[in-house]
Amino acid sequence: MSSQLFTPLTIKDVTLDNRIVVSPMGQYAGDGQGNATDWHLMHLGNLAVSAAGLVIVEASAVEARGRVSRFDLGLWTDKNAEALEPVLGFCRKHGNCKWGIQLAHGGRKGGVSVAWEGQLPLSSEEGGWPIVSPSAIPYPGRAMPVALDADGLREIRNAFVAAAERAHWLGFDLLEIHNAHGYLLHSFLTPFANQRQDTYGGDLENRMRFPLEVFSAVRDVWPESKPLGVRLSVTDWAEGGWTTEDSVVFARRLRDLGCDYVTASSGGATPDQQISIGPGYQIPLGEAIKREVDIVTMGVGLITEPKHAEEIIANGRVDLVALGRGMLFNPRWAWHAAFELGGQVSIARPYERSHPAMQSGDFLKPKLD
Ligand SMILES: Cc1cc2nc3c(=O)[nH]c(=O)nc-3n(C[C@H](O)[C@H](O)[C@H](O)COP(=O)(O)O)c2cc1C
Repeated sequence: MSSQLFTPLTIKDVTLDNRIVVSPMGQYAGDGQGNATDWHLMHLGNLAVSAAGLVIVEASAVEARGRVSRFDLGLWTDKNAEALEPVLGFCRKHGNCKWGIQLAHGGRKGGVSVAWEGQLPLSSEEGGWPIVSPSAIPYPGRAMPVALDADGLREIRNAFVAAAERAHWLGFDLLEIHNAHGYLLHSFLTPFANQRQDTYGGDLENRMRFPLEVFSAVRDVWPESKPLGVRLSVTDWAEGGWTTEDSVVFARRLRDLGCDYVTASSGGATPDQQISIGPGYQIPLGEAIKREVDIVTMGVGLITEPKHAEEIIANGRVDLVALGRGMLFNPRWAWHAAFELGGQVSIARPYERSHPAMQSGDFLKPKLD
């Protein structure tokens, strides 16, 4: 039987060649003003020939204070978009992947040093900035955020819209809103960060209000023909936090507003989370969403073995599998998976001879597949 991992998937007018996605991964390699650098050319250029169906560019801040580190990528100025344009052009010239980008706001987890320097709060002398959140409740070990008022909420909603317009100008095929990992939009959902007394806090309906408003505003400007998705922390993995049942309600509301897919991630709202980590540990969360809500679902988290990815897709547990660290470790993962599972991928002509079927053969054989 042929591989299901290597079957195409069409979402709106965009067809992905296979079910393999490169998960968004912050590189902390911007220039300090949200602009892409030559690191991005190398990093994304490498992934452009990965043969993944979709590459989602890292969390990109919608405003400067929405960065997690100083060196996050951003889309808050036209200059940011102009810096990314040649990178994307280069990637498209040399590869066949579809391209998405993730829009993000770090909220109360922003303003810290880069990952390999421990994500410690930055003082103003170190280039730090005031951070914002639904309520003035710090994430443990981080700076005290300022609670957003009505003007602040409007500003951030508008910043998501402007960044989405820039993503469209850049020609991205797909857009993802980062609503996970304890960052701003997830902070509205979770009682750990949201203790507001107004219509944006309190019961589930109120806590969903701002993320849903942002989603709707972005949907209004992002073309109907192109997929718009949301990454969720499906559960906070902690007593008193956001739950899988809440995520089912939220995903249904998102779908009704025109959301085309959700990615089932988890955690990030509290250091007290209790997660049991192992291969595919978040797939049951994706299954729970897919079972209850009629929406395309992406699974992610420690999927490293081709046969495991194949089992997940073949059994319809989720519709797409995203790989993060596994792709950094082996950017040709999809080639190897295709070889192992009998799937077809498009290999750039200059690299064709690397394929095991051609290593002992004649270089002038017809193109594989
Ligand atoms: C270096 C690195 C950067 C990441 N940056 C992001 C990001 O920008 N946005 C996001 O939603 N998740 C981010 N993540 C999480 C990954 O997308 C992914 O969900 C997670 O690593 C689990 O998948 P994996 O086990 O295949 O790595 C990052 C992970 C890593 C390792």
